[in-house]
Amino acid sequence: MKNVLCIASVLCLLTTIAANQTKNNHNNVEYNPYGPYVNCSFLPLEFLDCEDLIDHKGNETAKAELGRGCVKFGGYRYEDVEKTVLKCTVLPSIECYGPKEIYRDGFPCITYSGHYFATTLIYSILLGFLGMDRFCLGQTGTAVGKLLTLGGVGIWWIVDIILLVTNQLQPEDGSNWNPYV
Ligand SMILES: *[C@@H]1O[C@H](CO)[C@@H](O)[C@H](O)[C@H]1NC(C)=O
Ligand SMILES: *[C@@H]1O[C@H](CO)[C@@H](O)[C@H](O)[C@H]1NC(C)=O
Ligand SMILES: *[C@@H]1O[C@H](CO)[C@@H](O)[C@H](O)[C@H]1NC(C)=O
Repeated sequence: MKNVLCIASVLCLLTTIAANQTKNNHNNVEYNPYGPYVNCSFLPLEFLDCEDLIDHKGNETAKAELGRGCVKFGGYRYEDVEKTVLKCTVLPSIECYGPKEIYRDGFPCITYSGHYFATTLIYSILLGFLGMDRFCLGQTGTAVGKLLTLGGVGIWWIVDIILLVTNQLQPEDGSNWNPYV
């Protein structure tokens, strides 16, 4: 009876250690660059599932607290666009070495909501006197004004075309022009 108990407890200990070993396998074993596993932080984006952009709505302290996220959206020149870190998790079916949760930098704070520059410009030129361009961009208030004054008797019509071309008239919701036609 004593022997059985003893063997059982030894077996139990061995299985616990074995289970612990397989669980910690990737974190305890020294990284072998010639081994089958690639370092998780070197995986390309196709193998990762990244969170959505976090909108701090202009709150700098909230971004500083969290360490990532967007204070502002939009911008067209590279240096005008805010970049953010995103938390990405390795897809469940992918094996790699190291922590499965990684932080990637350099995601642009840009959203798209289906506004096309070319379409808006055509609206602005052909139907600007009805305020169609501003209606489409979501600037309803000024659009109604433009419609009622028939495009500011033509002047507002022309001014808006210039504003559009010089990129000063943009979608109201802070999204960027959709790059794909
Ligand atoms: C399991 O592994 C962890 C981390 O290496 C260690 O701290 C712990 O003592 C181990 N537990 C057992 C039962 O071996
Ligand atoms: C900005 O975020 C911080 C932390 O989340 C919060 O305490 C503060 O009230 C926020 N400020 C504004 C103006 O919303
Ligand atoms: C994976 O690569 C990153 C970046 O070079 C490095 O900081 C990290 O220590 C590596 N992880 C392991 C487990 O070697």
